[in-house]
Amino acid sequence: MTEKLVVRARGPLRGTVRVSGATKNAGLKQMAAALLAPGCTVLRNVTPVADLDVMLDVLRAIGAGVEWTGPDELTIDARPDLHPEAPYEHVTRLRASINVLGPLLARCGEARVAMPGGDNIGSRKLDMHFRGLQAMGAELEVVHGFIEARCNALCGARVVLEFPSVGATENLLTAAVLAKGATIIENAAREPEITDLAAFLNRMGAHVAGAGTSTIEVEGVEELTPVASTLMGDRIEAGTFLMACGIAGGEIAIEGTELAHLEMVVVKLGEMGLKVSRTPDGLWARADDRLQAIDVATLPYPGFATDFMPLVVALLATAEGTAIVTENVFDSRFSFVDELNRMGADVRNEGRHAVVRGVPRLSGAPVRALDVRAGAALVLAGLAADGETEVLDPYHVDRGYPDLAGRLCSLGADVERASLE
Ligand code: UD1
Repeated sequence: MTEKLVVRARGPLRGTVRVSGATKNAGLKQMAAALLAPGCTVLRNVTPVADLDVMLDVLRAIGAGVEWTGPDELTIDARPDLHPEAPYEHVTRLRASINVLGPLLARCGEARVAMPGGDNIGSRKLDMHFRGLQAMGAELEVVHGFIEARCNALCGARVVLEFPSVGATENLLTAAVLAKGATIIENAAREPEITDLAAFLNRMGAHVAGAGTSTIEVEGVEELTPVASTLMGDRIEAGTFLMACGIAGGEIAIEGTELAHLEMVVVKLGEMGLKVSRTPDGLWARADDRLQAIDVATLPYPGFATDFMPLVVALLATAEGTAIVTENVFDSRFSFVDELNRMGADVRNEGRHAVVRGVPRLSGAPVRALDVRAGAALVLAGLAADGETEVLDPYHVDRGYPDLAGRLCSLGADVERASLE
């Protein structure tokens, strides 16, 4: 809370940047899944973002040993005598703590996990997690702010999700791998992070088929064995660099990611005028002129990811023309537009929609990051603003980006971390 990011526009971006491992959206889930296999799991390509520290606290509270065994390598010892409880003080700092529910139930037959609250992007219910685990034979109730779950043995079941929730798919998948018999998850989330999690579980000896499609089939096994595994590259960080190139102009290469993970973003940015192509190890992008406005609606993968919504609003804020942006995944993700408007943007939000009227140039101002992607969007807006933009509360940005300022500087941007006087 004592720092800020100071951004000054410095013209087009140039150079090559390598994306980090997808620690926030894939790594935290695989750390939770490591609880399924007694012994030492090794995860590589893990970068120390702030949310990771909270998950480390959760795992320690549960009784697992956690240790950095290399610069990007984490070893998790899921000891025999786990204490299946995730305390409120950690869960309230990290919603993804809920991902320990499935693995703890499967491994210990019980779990006590503090009920996470809402956050800055919406209410974020857990009904699908609950219904799915109940279908598999678990008893769940919320008592004094804790989810108390127990089961004699989890049994495979057919679960149809009302919405392809990422978190619910992950919790059900990580419970099903040790359940008795077959589980089918219909309308499963198809995000690449789910595919990465399933591949990790299969390496441990699980039988998961269909990850990346809407139907995931799991044949339960008796036990899982710890393995060493490498996290996928962070597609959201990669998309953030693409958007940075779009707003600042220039020509960049992004290594360590796959075009296949960013197809819809690339299509939409292409319509706006950004040129993007595949390289042997990632992407190349170039922006020559002012971008053109297009309409965007967020959807579960492979649709336009909600994580990119604040970023694309920042781009549209300086694009030529008027755009309508619709948020279909979270119910209140537009609070950040008031901050963007402080920089001279012309964005009007009503419910799930925002009308963005592009202006030629933004004007630097002190603004506040309200969540991780909204914070990144304000940093990007600063790349196209006159004068100095100060992004306060940068700890939100640090939750998901290992060093956004440093990475952008390596592409020629001027983003500096400074202390608040
Ligand atoms: C994850 C990602 C987040 C991403 C989101 C959607 C992490 C740490 N977070 O969040 O970055 O934006 O996926 O791609 O990986 N819902 C219910 N009932 C449930 C579960 C979810 O109504 O039981 C609703 C939520 O309130 C939300 C929507 O479904 O409106 C999507 O949530 P979900 O896909 O579960 O997102 P998360 O896993 O929380």
